[in-house]
Amino acid sequence: METRARVIVVGSGAREHALAAALSSGGHEVVSAPGNAGTAVVGRNAPVGADDVAGLVDLAVRERADLVVVGPEAPLTAGLVDALAARGIRAFGPSRAAARLEGSKAFMKEFCARHGIPTAAFAVFDDADAAERYVRAAGRPLVVKADGLAAGKGVVVPAGVDEACAAVDRMLRQREFGAAGARIVVEELLPGEEASFHVVCDGTRGVALAPAQDHKRVGDGDCGPNTGGMGAYAPAPVVTPEVHARVMREVVGPTLAGMAAEGMPFRGVLFVGLMIDQGVPRVLEFNVRFGDPETAVLVPTYDGDWFELLDASARGDLSGVEARPPTRSALAVVMAAEGYPGKPRVGDRIEGLDAHLPPGAFVLHAGTERGADGAVTTRGGRVLAVGASAPSLDAAARTAYEVVGGIHWTGEHHRRDIGRRALAPRAT
Ligand code: AMP
Ligand code: GLY
Repeated sequence: METRARVIVVGSGAREHALAAALSSGGHEVVSAPGNAGTAVVGRNAPVGADDVAGLVDLAVRERADLVVVGPEAPLTAGLVDALAARGIRAFGPSRAAARLEGSKAFMKEFCARHGIPTAAFAVFDDADAAERYVRAAGRPLVVKADGLAAGKGVVVPAGVDEACAAVDRMLRQREFGAAGARIVVEELLPGEEASFHVVCDGTRGVALAPAQDHKRVGDGDCGPNTGGMGAYAPAPVVTPEVHARVMREVVGPTLAGMAAEGMPFRGVLFVGLMIDQGVPRVLEFNVRFGDPETAVLVPTYDGDWFELLDASARGDLSGVEARPPTRSALAVVMAAEGYPGKPRVGDRIEGLDAHLPPGAFVLHAGTERGADGAVTTRGGRVLAVGASAPSLDAAARTAYEVVGGIHWTGEHHRRDIGRRALAPRAT
């Protein structure tokens, strides 16, 4: 029997609420920094921002934390895990050096090229004229990406060559993303269907979680602007057993071996953003943290113990943890505030949060806060991730939407078609 550990979860989204709830239900004490109205119920919140590396190290020392689980990418690329290690505190997540797989797209593409990992053909530029000449010579729309972290806004998938050149101009000449866009990656547009493939790693081994699929556009039928993600489900049937085996063999294996050989073994979760075309997987991007909203469906589809999994990764020894194929399905719907993904309207009172939940259902908080009067109000764009797990995806979808239907606030919006690719007859 595990002893009761004290775990700090860094971040304040539905991802962090899902992890905090899983750790708490495993019998551990959870402190969320900074957390939200949901994490305050499964543990305590500490008023330290997710970007405040020094403040988080102080908190972990003060709390005598056994483990720090880092949710978002920014503190990872800023070196939080290294700073904690220097104080003898174990943390789940990659070192600053290894976090470059997400923090620099040029690094990631060149790493893939060095290790034969399948990804779109690319070139790296810091000169706008050279980049524009390259785009015009290609004669077809190429994807333009800011090198550094740009809060999910640094990728332009253009409809034509002029739009691609305009993106080059905004990034390299007008410095729309500041230093993060002083260098760009220009790459081939890949056809296919996307999937989110998460592997928990210990530096040499990886344990795959259920393959998931996100829904990035704000509106039904994948219309409207891009968001951080409007809903997710798992397992995603586009990741067939054959695709799964190829991803482990062609992507995960060479990535772990390559990172170790280059002196930065990868620990934490490697989130491979895949494009799958006729059974052939290619890497669109690497993230070095859990996806959000994907985590809402990864947690209930993993049968093992979450503390054991995250702690074993942080210790660098996953040998005692088995990869288990998911035996359940899960689906989560993001409920968003009016205006999202633009500037969201905040401060609205959320009604229906106290209703009794059907079996398998969950309500995860993201942009929420509890006022002095006890009422929970909206505080961000993505407000809740509401979902369910069940033996089948259809049952999970039914339950999830039943719970969504009972929660209201002024201006709330959500997609009604989460899971449609797996629920509807599949297009050929
Ligand atoms: P990223 O931040 O790299 O995941 O890019 C954001 C989104 O842009 C991805 O989820 C894809 O939908 C799209 N995207 C990125 N790169 C490509 C590519 N090479 N081909 C097609 N779509 C892409
Ligand atoms: N849902 C995609 C991401 O977390 O990056």
